[in-house]
Amino acid sequence: MSLFVVLLALWFRPPNDEVLDERLDTVLSSLLRAERKVMVDDVARPRVAVFGGCVDLIVDAVSLLKKIGLPPTEQPLHHDYIENAEQLTQSFAFFFAPGAAARFMLNETLFSELVESSRDLPGNRWSVGGNAPVMAARMAAEGCEVLLGGSFSPDFTDVLSQHITVTGNTVEEPDIHLILEYPSGASWGQYTARRANYIIHSDDHNPYLASMEEFGKNLEDFKPDLMVVGGLQMMDNFPLGMNEQELPNLLSLLKGSNITVLSDPNPRVATVLDQMREVYRLLNQRSSEMQIAAVALTRLHVHTLAFQAIIVTRGSRWKNTMSATAKASLTANRHVCGSDDIDPNKARLIMDDSFSISRREGSQRIPLQESRPVSCWDEEDYEICVAPVLVCTEVYQTAGGGDNISAAGLVLQI
Ligand SMILES: *[C@@H]1O[C@H](CO)[C@@H](O)[C@H](O)[C@H]1NC(C)=O
Ligand SMILES: *[C@@H]1O[C@H](CO)[C@@H](O)[C@H](O)[C@H]1NC(C)=O
Ligand SMILES: *[C@@H]1O[C@H](CO)[C@@H](O)[C@H](O)[C@H]1NC(C)=O
Repeated sequence: MSLFVVLLALWFRPPNDEVLDERLDTVLSSLLRAERKVMVDDVARPRVAVFGGCVDLIVDAVSLLKKIGLPPTEQPLHHDYIENAEQLTQSFAFFFAPGAAARFMLNETLFSELVESSRDLPGNRWSVGGNAPVMAARMAAEGCEVLLGGSFSPDFTDVLSQHITVTGNTVEEPDIHLILEYPSGASWGQYTARRANYIIHSDDHNPYLASMEEFGKNLEDFKPDLMVVGGLQMMDNFPLGMNEQELPNLLSLLKGSNITVLSDPNPRVATVLDQMREVYRLLNQRSSEMQIAAVALTRLHVHTLAFQAIIVTRGSRWKNTMSATAKASLTANRHVCGSDDIDPNKARLIMDDSFSISRREGSQRIPLQESRPVSCWDEEDYEICVAPVLVCTEVYQTAGGGDNISAAGLVLQI
């Protein structure tokens, strides 16, 4: 019997499994080497000022909807913002299968009801949320001194690292982002999720930049090397943060056309790079037309599930783009798997063996070299780096991933 099982196992084992494992190990050790090339100065810690924030309440989406008695709808529909329970289920159904979305809740009664029901839902988690505090936490953990501006509750500051100084209004009711999480493969009625989470918020403070004045006063003394303003997308009704969903949106916005509500969750490298080039060109064209060099775009970082891509103007102040791209890619795995040590058994490479650098005909193809996985090259006045992501296969968390990745990439570049 056991011999039979062994034979069966051999029979079913795909012949190239071992080759794949080896390839992944080489990519991992090479990315780690690229990341370690640059060390953040422990003594003269880089100074970063970050603005914005809220608290996240994370709950299991399907359990919450069940608990408050909202059954799956027959009609998935897109809504720019949400006014009632029916729109909530329609919008949730619309985004459930393809992936992430954030929606503004206009109905404060309904939002409070959802928050109240979530408070005592088993398995819920509170965490420091919003783009800015997550980025602040990651930057402090990577060796930066951080000034964080925003409207926070008094107990919020207790949970922060000693390297984060908080400035801004103290409020009793901080903005809450309700994160309805579901694992890929989760089902809700006839719908099955491919991945990711759904976020609803009803921000009172962030959109008004309530603590900006206080923050501005402290900024002069703090003398930051870098200032990050997070979560501006919350002022509008679609999500930003620069992943594969937000890039096409930003591009259509710049071109004056409609936003794309749903975009390809697994775009090709060539497509993403073309979109990045165009955003870079359009924004810089505007700043030169307005003759304000100060608003020129000099860095653009896009995350997708399969790879990380960074564009940096040559001769600008951004340093170490290659290592930063490697670090961003490693951070994607660390965050989603919930562990600083990357386990190759819980990782998968989904980027192709080679990629074309543009969709234009006759464009160069770059092979993915395991021992030098980060590819960097020069074009016009900028440099581009692309790194494959070791996609985590045992998901511990997804929310906050983008901010950890952005922040980790930034710290090596200042
Ligand atoms: C807001 O939500 C509450 C609770 O679900 C509901 O009773 C009310 O009708 C909603 N208001 C509007 C304007 O839809
Ligand atoms: C843009 O959106 C508006 C309003 O939803 C719609 O009427 C219009 O047809 C759209 N235009 C394009 C080019 O899709
Ligand atoms: C990302 O940030 C959040 C909040 O600060 C934290 O809980 C999480 O562990 C971070 N991820 C990594 C990889 O450190």
